[in-house]
Amino acid sequence: MKILAIETSCDETSASVGELDNNFVRIISNVTATSMNIHAGTGGIIPENAARMQVKYIMPVIIKALCESRNLKDESWEVAKETLKDDIDAIAVTYGPGLIGSLLVGVETAKTLSFTFNKPLIPVNHLLAHIYANFIISNKPSTLSPNPFPFIGLIASGGHSDLLLFKSNNDYKWLGGTRDDAAGEAFDKTGRLLNLSYPAGPEIERRASIFEKKLNPKPSTLNPKFKSPLINSADFDFSFSGLKTEVMRYVQKNPNMNEELKNQICFALQKAIIDVLVIKTLKAAEKYNIKKILIGGGVSANQTFINQLQLNAKQSALNPKIFSPEKIYCTDNAAMIASYALMNYKKENWEEINANPELYFA
Ligand code: KG4
Ligand code: ZN
Repeated sequence: MKILAIETSCDETSASVGELDNNFVRIISNVTATSMNIHAGTGGIIPENAARMQVKYIMPVIIKALCESRNLKDESWEVAKETLKDDIDAIAVTYGPGLIGSLLVGVETAKTLSFTFNKPLIPVNHLLAHIYANFIISNKPSTLSPNPFPFIGLIASGGHSDLLLFKSNNDYKWLGGTRDDAAGEAFDKTGRLLNLSYPAGPEIERRASIFEKKLNPKPSTLNPKFKSPLINSADFDFSFSGLKTEVMRYVQKNPNMNEELKNQICFALQKAIIDVLVIKTLKAAEKYNIKKILIGGGVSANQTFINQLQLNAKQSALNPKIFSPEKIYCTDNAAMIASYALMNYKKENWEEINANPELYFA
């Protein structure tokens, strides 16, 4: 069975064709356009701008993904139509959470295609899909078994930070999440205070590793140091908004920062974010005695985070295994939507599917 998946929840427009392969997901094509450069100019996303760009990109991206699934470099609506008619068994689309304007473009396009080509439609929760990016067959060897349950899932993205316990595809429990800013949002907002371009996560990681390689700092000598709120609380909640205030105060006191000091701040703030993600995720695994942890979302592209989670996991008595998606499937993409839909094939009548910007766990 082949699925065409569509993702438009925020500032990426993505379409992908995927199929099941021995209980994992093989991605045949995955095309993503982004309006990030526009948001870099405004220092963050203006929802209306993001929605306008979704309208511009949606059909070219879908056509390209369909043509590429037939190994064709030239894009034409004629070929795309034929592919949709002959090769595709169902259409999957992100229906939430996300920005309403952006979501509507994907959902309404998917509904139109579903109606026109008489294909079943599968609505997909964007957050769950971030975790299911782990089931995509990639170049890196993985020891994830076709039946991975139970596992702990950590979603760390630009809009969300959630911990879940998955018992099966349809049976998961939300353990906790952020009370204010998400982990990725903390990278982006503090990055803005440091005049880094949006999204700041990758740049903060790069600067932090320059500082680390140069000085190999010990945590006790770190200056400045930022707090990891709720790190010792008994729950599985996060809070990252205080970090902005701390970084803002530091920047106000040190207006003439050189690049080295900026790198040092990046190291300290990345550490504050990673420390609490690692501790809470491992604590969830220990509390429920779960030996597998699957992470997903833009922040799981951060190699320092993956390394620290793996290291701390290995040092713990439980020794859980850590799984993360291939880097290209960490940030928003339609391949993960295809993955979720293929692993949870549940079609719905297109007339009953509506964009739901507030599709949160709690
Ligand atoms: O999952 P995603 O593409 O979008 C949402 O669903 O929100 O995540 C985007 C977020 C941004 O906040 C970005 O700064 C962060 O992921 N991000 C990173 C890295 N790459 C992307 N954060 C830290 N380190 C990275 N390497
Ligand atoms: Zn996302």
